[in-house]
Formats: sequence, C-alpha cells, structure tokens
Amino acid sequence: MTLLYINACVRPQSRTKILADYVVAQLSPQSISFLDLDKCNLKYADNAFLQKRGTLIATHQFDHPMFAYAREFASADNIVIAAPYWDFSFPALLKMYIENVNVVNIVFKYSSTGEIVPLCRAENLYYVTTKGGYNSDDYGFKYIEALCKRLYGIKNVFLIEAEGLDIQGNNANEILQQACKKADEIIK
Ligand SMILES: Cc1cc2nc3c(=O)[nH]c(=O)nc-3n(C[C@H](O)[C@H](O)[C@H](O)COP(=O)(O)O)c2cc1C
Repeated sequence: MTLLYINACVRPQSRTKILADYVVAQLSPQSISFLDLDKCNLKYADNAFLQKRGTLIATHQFDHPMFAYAREFASADNIVIAAPYWDFSFPALLKMYIENVNVVNIVFKYSSTGEIVPLCRAENLYYVTTKGGYNSDDYGFKYIEALCKRLYGIKNVFLIEAEGLDIQGNNANEILQQACKKADEIIK
C-alpha cells in the first residue's frame, strides 16, 4: 500500500503534524510519499498558470512536470492530509495544492454527456486537523469531503481531529492523546 502524506502545517511545533504522524505510523504503509507543501514552491492559479495549463491539456501533454502533483494524487492508494484549522477552514497553502491537483483527464474526466467521472485510485483519505477552540463548522473538511465524493471518487473520507487545544486550562497533550485513541478506532 502506498501512502501520499500531504502536510499543510507551517508551525515548527505543529500539533496537527504530530497527530498526522501518528495516523501515518498506524497505517503502516509500504511506502510513503511525503509532500511538505510549505517547501513545494507552489504556484496559485493566476492567468499565466491557467493559459499554460489549458494549452497542455488541449495538446494532451499529461506527462508534463506541471501535472506531477495531479498524477501523484491520482495514483496514490491512500492519502493523509494534515491541515490546521484556520478561520473555519485550512491554510491557503492547501488550496494552492488543490488548484495544482485538479487537472481534467488526470484526477477526473467528463463523460460524453458532461458528467464528472472520477479517476483517482485511492479508497481512503484521512483528514487530520487540530483546532484552538471547539468548532463544528469545519468548512475545510467539508470541502475536502465534497471533492473526494464528487470529483476524485474517494469513497471513505475520515476526519481525525483534536479540539480545544488553545483553551486556557485545557491540557493539550492529553487532548492529543485522546485524539490518537480515536484515530486507532477509525483506522482499525
Ligand atoms: C491563522 C490562524 C487562524 C486560526 N483560526 C482559528 C479558528 O477560526 N478557530 C479556532 O478554534 N482556532 C483557530 N486557530 C487556532 C488553531 O486552530 C490551533 O492553534 C491549531 O491547533 C494550530 O495547529 P498547529 O499546532 O498544527 O499549527 C487559528 C490559528 C491560526 C494561526
């Protein structure tokens, strides 16, 4: 089993990364492809990006380096995303990565009648996050879940989270340990 581990954490002592490392260890994959998004020098989709991408797609150059992230994502067996909870969602870094991944004819295609046909291989995606407070409005997870179900064809999307880490009086380490136990339940 191959695992694509996408890290959108930016703080050196990131609690989200600690929790995601635990999840990855429990999944015990044969091989891990680790993407540290902060070090990937990602480009967001500006006009030049869209023009170039459009030309490459129109000329069927799907092996172009510009599509390396999309090819890697589409061929992974399992996927883990580590993303802290920021402003009801996730860091912009992860959205930039998604803009690079969502390439027609690699992660999805259109049928002759215009319907989306998913092309991704993964059956499981684990979305790992930590939150300063207690927030059920996690639009980051909801968005990733919608992409998985409607675009990528990834059937099982799991949320693994630790909440309330920044609330005064809470023991963040204890909360993280509880989250690891919940992760065990989800993974088994
Ligand atoms: C830019 C930014 C925005 C945040 N927004 C929220 C928020 O809307 N709600 C919340 O409960 N915590 C928020 N937090 C707190 C983080 O969710 C919390 O500290 C989290 O554990 C950080 O993860 P990390 O340790 O992996 O960096 C925010 C933190 C940052 C830096």
